[in-house]
Amino acid sequence: MTDFSQRTHAPTLLVGVDLGRPNFDADLEELGLLAKSAHMEPVARVTCKRRAPDAALFVGSGKADEIKFLAQQTGATEVLFDQSLSPSQQRNLERHLQLPVNDRTYLILDIFAQRARSHEGKLQVELARLQYLSTRLVRRWSHLERQSGGIGMRGGPGETQIELDRRMIGESIKRTKDRLVKVQRQRRTQRRQRERNEAFNISLIGYTNAGKSTLFNALVKARAYAADQLFATLDTTTRQLYLGDAGRTVSLSDTVGFIRDLPHGLIDAFQATLQEAIDADLLLHVVDASNPAYPEQIHEVQRVLHEIGAHDVPQMLVFNKADALSEPSRPAKSRDSYEIDGVQTSRVFVSAASGEGLGLLRSELAARVLAHLPSLHSSNPDPVGAETDLGTIAPLAMRS
Ligand code: GTP
Repeated sequence: MTDFSQRTHAPTLLVGVDLGRPNFDADLEELGLLAKSAHMEPVARVTCKRRAPDAALFVGSGKADEIKFLAQQTGATEVLFDQSLSPSQQRNLERHLQLPVNDRTYLILDIFAQRARSHEGKLQVELARLQYLSTRLVRRWSHLERQSGGIGMRGGPGETQIELDRRMIGESIKRTKDRLVKVQRQRRTQRRQRERNEAFNISLIGYTNAGKSTLFNALVKARAYAADQLFATLDTTTRQLYLGDAGRTVSLSDTVGFIRDLPHGLIDAFQATLQEAIDADLLLHVVDASNPAYPEQIHEVQRVLHEIGAHDVPQMLVFNKADALSEPSRPAKSRDSYEIDGVQTSRVFVSAASGEGLGLLRSELAARVLAHLPSLHSSNPDPVGAETDLGTIAPLAMRS
């Protein structure tokens, strides 16, 4: 197992096994992006179709030989699988290929570890990483491998060392959990304070790279970290947002991005951060409208929302990156609705980068706030009105 955070542009071979899942190509594309986010340099891809993974090597032995050959040809120093490997598959592959082999789950964990900034974020990632490692203590663990002479060594360290490591990891997990409890207590106090102030809480959620931080910055004119990297934002940032049409200030939170097959440990570990989403009055679900895989990404976000118990929180869809859409498919309306899980959900098209549609989004938000606070509603007429024609704002493109 490689410590990703210490690598710089390691030549990496990507392996995708098509087990009949739709969007196989897009998934592999995403693996490439994830790899780059972790400072790896994808040099080649190997794909194959299988009905089911091979128990020992995940791929067949012929394909494993092909991977080994290609790695030698391209100078790849590690191999990255798109699918989750069992600890024994990973170990067998490393022996067969004589190279470090990792999977998507570990890659995501590592990216999270690199990006976490706040104390809480770091603790959460550390917990998820320790939990992942604790399942993989089967005669292989990086520092043990190094001590015993590298990957592929048979015999390896004795059980006693493994038992020791298992205990140390167990203790670290406990310590990290205890520290998290303390930090989370502080977060709860802050949230209670906001509740006392009767703040209307809006949380930005969305698939990774959808543009949440860029939108957050554009709305509150803050400087949350936005980058062309997956999971640039890991920590929840909350700022006040004044909505002129409602004559009120609301609180707006930027949260961690979601991704397909988010490792389970991470969902558990990020429960506290995601609590912001669960407790929100409104979820602004940001979608990268220029990504052809956006319907699947919406689906994945919904799945995670179900998992964390936030699926009942009202949502508004923000179809972002409208500027990056192709010319022929401009939307007839800059706001309409889109069906999610059988529910018609309001949708607004914006470009967080250029500012297009942000005025409309603010008005929509103001309308939601007023609807939520009936006493204010009577003194403030609905600022949005009926459907807004495109002519009133800069033209936006839309996928057909
Ligand atoms: P995570 O931290 O991974 O969850 O990402 P995020 O959803 O916070 O996305 P972020 O704001 O970091 O933006 C991701 C990339 O999309 C960056 O390169 C942005 O510059 C780009 N981006 C954001 N909004 C727009 C937009 O409206 N148009 C275009 N063309 N690019 C955008």
